[in-house]
Amino acid sequence: MPADPTSPKLPDAGQRTAYRAQLLYFTGEPGRAGDNRASTTVWLSDGLLVVEGARIAQVGDYRSLASDLAPGTPVIDWRDKLITPGFIDTHIHYPQTDMIASPAPGLLPWLETYTFPTERRFEDPAYAADVARFFIDELLRCGTTSALVYCTVHPGSVDAFFTESAERNLRMVAGKVMMDRNCPEFLRDTAETGGRDSEMLIQRWHGQGRQLYALTPRFAPTSSEAQLGVCGELAQRYQDVFIQTHVAENLDEVKWVKELFPGHRSYLDIYDHYGLLRPRAVYGHCIWLDGHDRRRMQETGAVAAHCPTSNQFLGSGLFDFAAAEASHMPVTLATDVGGGSSFSMLQTMNEAHKVARLSGYHLNAERMFYQATEGAAQALGLGGQIGTLAAGAEADFVVLDPQATPLLARRTAQADSLEELLFALAMLGDDRAVAATFAAGRRVHQRGG
Ligand code: GUN
Ligand code: ZN
Repeated sequence: MPADPTSPKLPDAGQRTAYRAQLLYFTGEPGRAGDNRASTTVWLSDGLLVVEGARIAQVGDYRSLASDLAPGTPVIDWRDKLITPGFIDTHIHYPQTDMIASPAPGLLPWLETYTFPTERRFEDPAYAADVARFFIDELLRCGTTSALVYCTVHPGSVDAFFTESAERNLRMVAGKVMMDRNCPEFLRDTAETGGRDSEMLIQRWHGQGRQLYALTPRFAPTSSEAQLGVCGELAQRYQDVFIQTHVAENLDEVKWVKELFPGHRSYLDIYDHYGLLRPRAVYGHCIWLDGHDRRRMQETGAVAAHCPTSNQFLGSGLFDFAAAEASHMPVTLATDVGGGSSFSMLQTMNEAHKVARLSGYHLNAERMFYQATEGAAQALGLGGQIGTLAAGAEADFVVLDPQATPLLARRTAQADSLEELLFALAMLGDDRAVAATFAAGRRVHQRGG
């Protein structure tokens, strides 16, 4: 009898455990639109994933690995499930959890009306801890095991987030928002305090267990030139920390930036000027870039976080996949909750596909799964650690259920290829399709509790 996947008797972390399932991961970027190369996609229809402690020990065909399993190794039978690396969401705001689905006629009024008053509540460490706990539960319910997370201007909001993440041994990247102008007084730091607090938080959290720090100037309009300068100095001093901000999201924002920084060739050029374009710098949205900007992204190794549910919800615009691909700049997928309307990376793929479609571009499912796993890990300089099922990687993975709903079951039963299976999961799936989520070898979510 196969083990019941909903059984509470799964082994504890530290043990060697094997999972028999369909397995999917990538060793490089799969074929782009119209290109059927499959050599970088590893799909094992009857695979075995062997996890030891917090890491993946072995991966391969069940037939070739099963006979060599150490006697007594428990084998969990998930042959009707698909295991992929845990999803990586490259742009999300945990303080906006309680204001998701708040409508406004565009980005700037949405920030004024909902975002800033909500972020004010993070003055209170108890509130911050409560939201951090719920937010992380929600990520895990959706199969997201790593994310680049904006906190608020309050250093305590960062402590609350990392405390919760560290307790569950998750690989997370987060940072304190830096913001010293064009925002309410109650959310303002200064160039000096923003820099000092960020450095203190780097020292406290960067590399502490699986936690990583991101310098987080909110966006150019809310940072003075002095603050961007401080940020650039910190980026120079701490080369392996991340940088995250927003760029070219909305036309009113772009116009405002032009008025605030008249001397710059483009919005992106402001960040370039302060040394903020580099590997591990992640730029949310990237809708209204031009060819020169995209080239600079590619040359510097800076990464685009495409946020389709947010861009549609706020009416910001359509990300230009064809232009991004032509420039070879790294592109990842992100929810941008609470501007984004879903925590689910499957739903994010669904909307990414439609946004691409509207510009005449076919974004296939294999590429979207790549962008949400191995592609993101590579873009973030975390290749080999997360985003993969390869031996030696951190054991962060998601167990997807192609029969999660009657419609998914009916559609996936008729899938003739991996692409059709993945496409159905992306179009029809959401948190219901996540049977379980594992981080560092431990089960951190199981559907149904
Ligand atoms: N630009 C500056 N701040 C924000 C934010 O919180 N969300 C989004 N979507 N865009 C921003
Ligand atoms: Zn955002």
